[in-house]
Amino acid sequence: MKTEHAPTIRRADYQPLAWTVERIDLHFSLDPDATLVKSRMVCVRNPAAEEGPIRLWGEALERLSLLVEGAGPAAGTVREADGVLEIDAGGERAVVEVTTRIDPRANTTLSGLYLSNGGFFTQCEAEGFRRITYFPDRPDVMARYTVTLEADRAACPVLLSNGNLLEEGDLPGGRHYARWEDPFPKPSYLFALVAAKLVALERTVATASGREVLLQVWVEEGNLDRSEHAMESLIHSMRWDEETFGLELDLDRFMIVAVGDFNMGAMENKGLNIFNTKFVLAKPDTATDVDYENIESVVAHEYFHNWTGNRVTCRDWFQLTLKEGLTVFRDQQFSADMLARAAGPEGAVSARAVKRIDDVRVLRAAQFAEDAGPMAHPIRPDSYREINNFYTATVYEKGAEVIRMLHTLLGTEGFRNGMDLYFSYHDGQAVTCDDFVEAMAEANGVDLDQFMRWYEQAGTPRVKASGAWDAASGTYALTLAQHTPPTPGQPEKQPLVIPVAVGLIGPDGRDRPLRLEGESQPGATTRVLALTAAGQTFRFVGLDAEPVPSLLRGFSAPVVLELDETDERLAFRMAHDADPFNRWDAAQRYAERVILALAGGQASAVPQAFVAAFRALLNDAALDPAFRAQAAALPAEAYLLERMSPADPAALRAALIATMRTLGGALADDWLALIDAMRVDGAYRYHPGDAGRRALGNLALRYLAAAGDARGLAAASTRFESATDMTERFGALAALVQSTSPAREAALAAFHERYRDDALVLDKWFALQAGAWRWDDAVAPTLERVRALMADAAFSLSNPNKVYALLGTFFRANAAEFHAADGSGHAFWAEQVVALDAKNPQVAARMARALENWCRYAPALQSSIRPQLERVLAAPGLSSDVQEIVGKALA
Ligand code: ARG
Ligand code: ZN
Repeated sequence: MKTEHAPTIRRADYQPLAWTVERIDLHFSLDPDATLVKSRMVCVRNPAAEEGPIRLWGEALERLSLLVEGAGPAAGTVREADGVLEIDAGGERAVVEVTTRIDPRANTTLSGLYLSNGGFFTQCEAEGFRRITYFPDRPDVMARYTVTLEADRAACPVLLSNGNLLEEGDLPGGRHYARWEDPFPKPSYLFALVAAKLVALERTVATASGREVLLQVWVEEGNLDRSEHAMESLIHSMRWDEETFGLELDLDRFMIVAVGDFNMGAMENKGLNIFNTKFVLAKPDTATDVDYENIESVVAHEYFHNWTGNRVTCRDWFQLTLKEGLTVFRDQQFSADMLARAAGPEGAVSARAVKRIDDVRVLRAAQFAEDAGPMAHPIRPDSYREINNFYTATVYEKGAEVIRMLHTLLGTEGFRNGMDLYFSYHDGQAVTCDDFVEAMAEANGVDLDQFMRWYEQAGTPRVKASGAWDAASGTYALTLAQHTPPTPGQPEKQPLVIPVAVGLIGPDGRDRPLRLEGESQPGATTRVLALTAAGQTFRFVGLDAEPVPSLLRGFSAPVVLELDETDERLAFRMAHDADPFNRWDAAQRYAERVILALAGGQASAVPQAFVAAFRALLNDAALDPAFRAQAAALPAEAYLLERMSPADPAALRAALIATMRTLGGALADDWLALIDAMRVDGAYRYHPGDAGRRALGNLALRYLAAAGDARGLAAASTRFESATDMTERFGALAALVQSTSPAREAALAAFHERYRDDALVLDKWFALQAGAWRWDDAVAPTLERVRALMADAAFSLSNPNKVYALLGTFFRANAAEFHAADGSGHAFWAEQVVALDAKNPQVAARMARALENWCRYAPALQSSIRPQLERVLAAPGLSSDVQEIVGKALA
């Protein structure tokens, strides 16, 4: 077992293996309790490595036989220590045959081969393949696979693996088999098999070069009517990658399989992507607009991995952002393009901004917090104990921001040239982040050495900006200074390359063309300044009046911008900033200031000026509804907590409630008018324009319900009952639940009754209750509700979606209730983390992270949290996953 004493792995210690595997033939005799796995590996000596034994990793395996054919006197000598088999072999090639027995039913970790609803599924990234058979389970070993599956025909009529189907047929005893071959060499983390009772939605399409390919979305019977959107998303993704990067599907068949028990979102196994049902299944009655949007982006993400991840993969797990940061960037660009296309030429800029805002909200709430705590790490970490703990917002989302900065600095064409060069050099290889950045540098004839610091330094950089206006010469001097706060193990930081997109707004609200000192002509109204030193001054000349700076437009770098702006200036930018992202950001900054002043006791009411600025933006009919919905949504609670020192969840919650009530009440007529104006008629279709209207309508219900407005509550009740799609039904339910309305319990019960057999919809129902605020004191603490819901028949600690919905929402999205002053939430957390750890360490570790930033909280909370962290750390048999998280929190 890999518990207790997992050592720290360091990036600097990377060594190539003495032996790799050229090809592997796998034979699975599938049985729920005792699956036999026969493996035949052709091992080859690695000329790039020093001499040594063949090394094969194994975990939770029962070894039945091992046979080695190889040259040399010592050939075949076997040692086993710390989960690694070492086999001596001479010569250049050796054949190793190993048979193992595994128990899929007992595998509650959902890593390796496991059962879900009677079917067999695998998850091998990062280190699950070693739970199937002995193998050099590292991404730098790329082998060709053939796979034979054998199973009971009635229980598992469908047998899938990577690549192309070679043959299938019947076997005695009601069993059958299928044989698959993957023509592309791949690392073991991309291996997959599925054996289950499923049906497929199928489509045949032609690739850009005219090859016919078969696309399949495999789901349980009864879910075919929910798989159309995933299929369409797949086809859109294929077209986009052909058009944008000239990258085509390289297989004859591409499969997506949906499974209800899955640790993460989805997995890009070669030709056989396995997805959490949450990111496949959608129909209007059960999925919201946001679900549709998420499905489109996750399908795209996994599909894009076929090139960025699979054809070119990672040398070692420290390079994870090589594939994840790049692929998140690609899926973000894809979604922005899809939204822009749907919006048409008029609405494209705003549609892209809405997507950017979504992504930045996630970054600020999740990644900034991570960067400010004990788990802070560079996008390419230097060490880990458990790699599964490093599938983080930093590696993914900040990693994508780093790629985006390259795109900004090099331009669309320069970036594309860099991608082309990267593939021309590294197709079929396992490489490092340096290889990627070097290809970008070479293709563009630029030096990116300093840029590489983004891969080395943790922490969110601060960029402090100040301006000086000289009326006599019409010069505006903008001084930018950067500073990155210390993070664990990194006390000192070097200056980074920070692209700062800048605009200067005149007193009339219009952008001024920008001319830097020394330039002969004014240029564009937004330009990107490269901040490379600790401090730099940029002098803009030829201005007619003192400008208002609009900095970091489009969020051009993942930094915190520090700029002193008066309330008036924020309101001015809310009304006039030509950059829609910054217009939204001005509103967020103003809201943050108002809320934190309330929470800190520096103010006792929401200022009228803020209400007026908010109202003007809300009612600006020139802005599209999706953008207005973003602008009118308050900053995330997690982000605000991060901005508060010390973090005081109860005070923040009170401030948020007061702000929602004020805005709901003062603007009640505006909200009511919006509910009507935003109505979408006709049958539901997933369309970003309609989604924006529904989002703004739902937000209106939320504010009115928060304020206890009787007309608003009545509208929510009516909508809840008459809604014909999930976006509206759930929006109305959420408004009722986040209010003091007595209608909320009846609505929750009715919703449960309607969807009692629908696992994904019930997840929404669990999450809504776990995330509920207490709008009046008569309501019992949310923890009591959460405990009661754990006893619900639909809840299970073994299903990650249920855990994330109920416990995850409570721990991570309901700070005030979780951090109740009596410490009950903290004790509950310890209890659940330990219980989960015994089943599924990856899921337990994700829940454990909810308290990692405990040192940021007020002293009373800290003294309630510390003993619970210690209690978890002392639990017998604790996994290295949870140990790493809690150990770092207590360090
Ligand atoms: N590569 C997958 C994705 O980003 C994530 C798999 C993570 N799995 C894990 N057990 N850590 O799409
Ligand atoms: Zn990914």
